[in-house]
Amino acid sequence: MSIQNQTKLNIGLFGFGVVGEGLYKVLAHTPTLNAQIKHICIKHQDKHRNAPAELFTTNASELLNDKEINVIIELIDDADAAYRIVTKALRSKKAVVSANKKLIAEHIEELIALQQEYDTPFLYEAACCASIPVIRNLEEYYDNDLLQGLSGIVNGSTNYILTKVFREKKSFDDALLQAQVEGFAESNPALDIEGIDAVNKLSILLVHAYGIISSPQALLHTGIQNLQASDAVFAKEKGYEIKLVAQARKLSDGKVAALVLLQFVKNDSQLYTVNNEYNGVVIESSLADKQFFYGKGAGGFPTASAVLSDLSALRYNYRYEYKKLHYQEPSELSTDFYLKVCISFKGLLLVPHERFDRVLEWSSNEQRCHVTGIVHYSELANNDWWKQPNVSLILYPDGILDNYKPQKVHETAEEEFVEQFI
Ligand code: HSE
Repeated sequence: MSIQNQTKLNIGLFGFGVVGEGLYKVLAHTPTLNAQIKHICIKHQDKHRNAPAELFTTNASELLNDKEINVIIELIDDADAAYRIVTKALRSKKAVVSANKKLIAEHIEELIALQQEYDTPFLYEAACCASIPVIRNLEEYYDNDLLQGLSGIVNGSTNYILTKVFREKKSFDDALLQAQVEGFAESNPALDIEGIDAVNKLSILLVHAYGIISSPQALLHTGIQNLQASDAVFAKEKGYEIKLVAQARKLSDGKVAALVLLQFVKNDSQLYTVNNEYNGVVIESSLADKQFFYGKGAGGFPTASAVLSDLSALRYNYRYEYKKLHYQEPSELSTDFYLKVCISFKGLLLVPHERFDRVLEWSSNEQRCHVTGIVHYSELANNDWWKQPNVSLILYPDGILDNYKPQKVHETAEEEFVEQFI
């Protein structure tokens, strides 16, 4: 379906949470868009809502079967229900705008096929980094061959918590509660805390950056759940802060390393300046060097602004072409590279030294042991020892090592480490 410039956008909106209400308010002040919300489908009829009661229904079919509605905007937090709504809408040839990272990441292949089969646009700029137009930029501007990598803070809630805990000395629980009150966190905040939201976003970015379709669960990821106050002290002594960073990096064999890990960030990195609910993405291309996208990554109005931009794009019949997938040779994910990491843990024998290709440095105090070393990607991808509650793993800056030659030689530092702990 194509929506012509003069056509009125008749919207069926699913969800009236922070983002849905934000969009409702913004649309009321954007008459030039010629868009109007005809009906809003919500789960609980009885809640008070700041919009006329006659707009609301709990019956999804009233929107999906309404021939006058030509755009469905899906802003609910239940990814399974969202899947049913979005697929039915596309099959009914209604254009769809969604902000649902989980739905998109988990079903991207099918959603691409449906767009083609029904010749209907499906836009989701709000799903990654809210107000930052990163998907459309990756899709339109950066050629696969020239795109060396991207690294970003893509989850506002965890970044907010890290800022409040480590800079402002708030407790983790208070910071999380505040992120929930502000409307940054997912309804199930474990999705934020455990890095699932971030890896969902990374898997969407991989499609538009490199034409890589991967299930998010297959990508190496962690969250902030095991990070300790002593890790931040250790980082500070070395001149770093710790951030949760999603990244993809093209290796010299042409394959792409992709992961979401905690990372030491130095004050010469653009990501160092990204605090609270802000997101930031550094894109590296071989000719242009680094470019930095920065903006609010969560919250009602920032997310609504991206939804609004998608609505406006429907006006000129914009749709994702999935250029890297269809017009270029899609890249492949790599599973064969090394990482320079710091593992912090408490308790002897928790992290056997055989896990490392090489131990570069270790230190310990009463609270914690910190071991810096080089591990193979598959050691982390195939094992869970580094995800135990007492262990945190932090990547060093430039810690994805391309062309690292395995040593398997026990250096002095490692021998001391072995003597000390084993
Ligand atoms: N929970 C998400 C975040 C919302 O904190 O980034 C925006 O996607």
